[in-house]
Amino acid sequence: MSQPSDVEFVNVTKRFGDIVAVDHVSLSVERGAFFSFLGPSGCGKTTSLRMIAGFDQPTEGDVRLSGESVVGTPPYKRPVNMVFQHYALFPHLNVGDNIGYGLRQRTPQPPRAEIEKQVSETLELVRLSGYENRRIWELSGGQQQRVALARALINHPTVLLLDEPLAALDRKLRREMQIELQTLQREVGITFILVTHDQEEALSMSDTICIMHDGRIVQTGSPTQLYDEPINRYVADFVGKSNFFEGKVVEADGQGARIETPAGRTFAGRNPRDAASLQAGAAAVLAVRPEIIFVGSPGAGAPYDADVEAPAVIRNRIFLGEQTEYLVEAEGLGEVLVRAPKHAETQTGGFNPGDQVVIGWQAAAALALEDA
Ligand SMILES: Nc1ncnc2c1ncn2[C@@H]1O[C@H](COP(=O)(O)OP(=O)(O)OP(=O)(O)O)[C@@H](O)[C@H]1O
Ligand SMILES: [Mg+2]
Repeated sequence: MSQPSDVEFVNVTKRFGDIVAVDHVSLSVERGAFFSFLGPSGCGKTTSLRMIAGFDQPTEGDVRLSGESVVGTPPYKRPVNMVFQHYALFPHLNVGDNIGYGLRQRTPQPPRAEIEKQVSETLELVRLSGYENRRIWELSGGQQQRVALARALINHPTVLLLDEPLAALDRKLRREMQIELQTLQREVGITFILVTHDQEEALSMSDTICIMHDGRIVQTGSPTQLYDEPINRYVADFVGKSNFFEGKVVEADGQGARIETPAGRTFAGRNPRDAASLQAGAAAVLAVRPEIIFVGSPGAGAPYDADVEAPAVIRNRIFLGEQTEYLVEAEGLGEVLVRAPKHAETQTGGFNPGDQVVIGWQAAAALALEDA
């Protein structure tokens, strides 16, 4: 038995005049899940969150919380809190008063001691104990972010909506806050719905990611599913890095396809799970992740039975720690990105710009995708 769904969209469309911000979206978020909307600017992520929170109403379709329609229910009557894209703290209030604000607005207002107790408990949750009397401008970006989180959490929502909560932070702080958010979600056990256009953030934090494009859902799945089984080029391009070789389908069955490039080469690739089968004659791409391509010295032999092999020249080398990323110019393939694990380079010490090499891969690891 799966968990009951906490948030549901049934064929939801949201129009602003002529603009279709959200276009016939149906989805279901399980209780206690960490769910993310991922997509480029303007694809409808914030609008989707605002409909869950109640700041916007759908033009068509139904929004449900715990199975009940909430269309028309005002935000303050929903068991949902939202941390905004530009976290709006009250600059004239100190940390404690910012966090306790929601409780003080209640009628009847809880006793002062109760508010103080809850503020202090929530501060502990976001690891800011003792910061009650600090002014907002005396806090770092990450600390301000945690105040914004605490201000939402103190209302004990069943669903917490986070709109690009870490966008303003630098890389290192972001990484720390990502881990803290995950830990916090496990501690409080409520449903988190995150909006981000940062694929790394979505991949590292979410149980389920919903990839959006122009107001529509392209694919929903676990991080691994989206990475290993992207249903088209858009998803493969958005999630992780990939090489794409464009061409036309010359042969296809339910398992995979052969794609012919304009240069006359044909490549085989497998059909991802859940992807529609490709039709002969259709435009398609072969997607090859940089880490499934080997790079070796000419004549040294491939590390496995490669289905595709090509001589190449190293153009650029980027050291990434556990991996080295090479941009190579390969015969008949053009520019190809390759990632070699450190352990594969202990013998050779790796390659440098100008070196002649051989690259290759196995067809079973390449994907034949719709060019969308
Ligand atoms: N109040 C509004 N009035 C008119 N158009 C709007 C309104 N709110 C959003 N839109 C439009 O709806 C579309 C989706 O906007 P939305 O804010 O949901 O995008 P987003 O995915 O959150 O983008 P970003 O990553 O830039 O925050 C955009 O084309 C936007 O211009
Ligand atoms: Mg937005």
